[in-house]
Amino acid sequence: MRVFRLHVNGDPVEVAAPEHWTLLEVLRYQLGLTGSKQGCDKGDCGACTVLVDGTPTLSCLSLAATVEDQQITTIEGLLPAHRAAGGEGADPLQESFDESGALQCGFCQPGMILSAKALLAENPDPSAAEIKESLAGNLCRCTGYTQIYEAVLAAAKADMHAAISTDSAKEVQS
Ligand code: FES
Ligand code: FES
Repeated sequence: MRVFRLHVNGDPVEVAAPEHWTLLEVLRYQLGLTGSKQGCDKGDCGACTVLVDGTPTLSCLSLAATVEDQQITTIEGLLPAHRAAGGEGADPLQESFDESGALQCGFCQPGMILSAKALLAENPDPSAAEIKESLAGNLCRCTGYTQIYEAVLAAAKADMHAAISTDSAKEVQS
């Protein structure tokens, strides 16, 4: 056993776990953050995807010891971050997945949403091909992917619209 000093969803946490545990094991079995799913546990499905310093990362392949100095974001962190930024309701991307009917069993969704989150942070106006490419490592056993891609596209368009509206409002006021 050893103590890991992690930064999870904006909070510093100290947690004791076996030295060889993966980030996914520490998140799920010591911190109770079960949103990150243990699918294949060998890097094939993307269900365990979390953001490490904003980059989609397979937590089943990452030793917890290797990410102690980095910022980890799990699906549980999106709503508090959205609210802390002054937002209301759910995180817009989660909302968009809901409105687009982009989930069935939901097992793949945390990983899908976090991969999409990273894409939109880097590229707020992605093409359909770019969305598809960014989610290539996230497998879904239930859907045909169409609604998933549509959900990301809709969230991007809503974000762009909000940004344009804010800019226009500022122009009107100035
Ligand atoms: S559980 Fe990590 S890639 Fe499948
Ligand atoms: S909704 Fe079931 S695996 Fe994607």
